Amino acid sequence: MNATINLENKHFPVLLNELISIISPLYGGTFIDCTFGQGGYSEKILENNKNNIIALDRDKEVLKYADKLKLKYKNRFKFYNIKFSQLDKLKIQNINLRGIIFDLGYSLNQIKNSQKGLSFSDTGKLNMRMGLNDFSADDVVSKMDESNLVKVFKVFGNETYSKKIVREIVKKRKEQAIKTQDLVQIIDSVKKYQKTKIHNSTKVFQALRILVNKEISELIDALINSFNLIPIGGIMAVVTFHSIEDKIVKFFFKHYSEQKNTSRYFPETKYSERCFKLINKKPILPSADEIKKNPPSRSAKLRYAIKTNQNCEFKEFREKFKNLINLEDII
Ligand SMILES: C[S@@+](CC[C@H](N)C(=O)[O-])C[C@H]1O[C@@H](n2cnc3c(N)ncnc32)[C@H](O)[C@@H]1O
Repeated sequence: MNATINLENKHFPVLLNELISIISPLYGGTFIDCTFGQGGYSEKILENNKNNIIALDRDKEVLKYADKLKLKYKNRFKFYNIKFSQLDKLKIQNINLRGIIFDLGYSLNQIKNSQKGLSFSDTGKLNMRMGLNDFSADDVVSKMDESNLVKVFKVFGNETYSKKIVREIVKKRKEQAIKTQDLVQIIDSVKKYQKTKIHNSTKVFQALRILVNKEISELIDALINSFNLIPIGGIMAVVTFHSIEDKIVKFFFKHYSEQKNTSRYFPETKYSERCFKLINKKPILPSADEIKKNPPSRSAKLRYAIKTNQNCEFKEFREKFKNLINLEDII
C-alpha cells in the first residue's frame, strides 16, 4: 500500500521534507519527477523559482493536477503521460538536469477510484491497471494457467497459501467471472484461521498489481535510463514501498558504488564499476511523527545516489533480477 494513502482523504506526499533536503543542494536546474501523482513533490520543488520540473505519470487522470501546475508555473513545468521506463524517449536538450526522482506505488486518488479495482473493498470487476497497460487483473485471474498463477502469487506476493488460493480460483472461474469481492472471499475462505494484522488479501493484491503494471521491469528500465540521462554530479532518489522494489533499488545503488562485487555468484568485473557515490548506505525512513499522521508511510524507504564520472553497463543488475523480469512476461 502506498504511503500517500490516508483514511481521512488527506494527501501526504511521503518523506517530502527528507527528499527536499537531499536534493536542495542541487537546486537551480531541472528535476524529473517520474511519478507525478497529485503533484506534491513537483509543487514543492517548483516553489524555488530557480527550479524547473519535467513530470511523468502513466495515469492520465492526473492531468487535472498537471494542468493546475502548468497554469501556476507556466514554462517551468512540463507534463508527459508516459511510463517512466520510456524516459529515454523524451526529447530533452539543454535543460540543465540536476536530478531524477521516483515515489513508487499508487496514489490516494487511484485507490479511491473504484474503476481501478485497487482496493479490497471495491465491488466491481478486477482491474488494477494504473494506466497504459496491456492487460488487467481480470485477464490474469480468468485466463492464466494454474501453475503460473501460483508462481505469480508466491514470487510477487510471498503468499504462503498460493496453491490453495489458486485451486479455489480455478474451481470458481469455471462457474462464473471472478470479481474483486469474489477474490477477497476466496482468500478469506482459505485463510480463515489466520490472525495477522495485515488484510488477508494484501499479498495476492500486491502480486497482481506488480504483474498487471509490470512494476519490476518498469523500475529496472527506468533506473538504467535515468542513469544514462543524468549528468555527472546529478542525483537519483527513489522512495519504495515493498521489499521487492527496495531490493532492486538497494542493489542498483550499492552494487554500482562499491568496488568489490556484492555477490559471490557474479564473476569479477573487468573494471571497477563505481558509477555512483552513496552518501547514506542505509535508507531514510519516515519519522515517528510522519507515521503517526500518515500510518501507511511506515513502509516507505528513501534511497539516493550521486552519479560519478564512471560509466556502467548494468549487466549484473539485469541478470540478478532476470527471474522476476521473465515472470512479468509470462502472460
Ligand atoms: C505515490 S504516487 C506519487 C505521488 C506524488 N509523489 C505526489 O506527491 O503526489 C505514484 C504515482 O506514480 C505513477 N506511476 C506508477 N508507476 C508508474 C510508471 N511505471 N510510469 C509512470 N508513472 C507511474 C502512478 O500512476 C501514481 O500516480
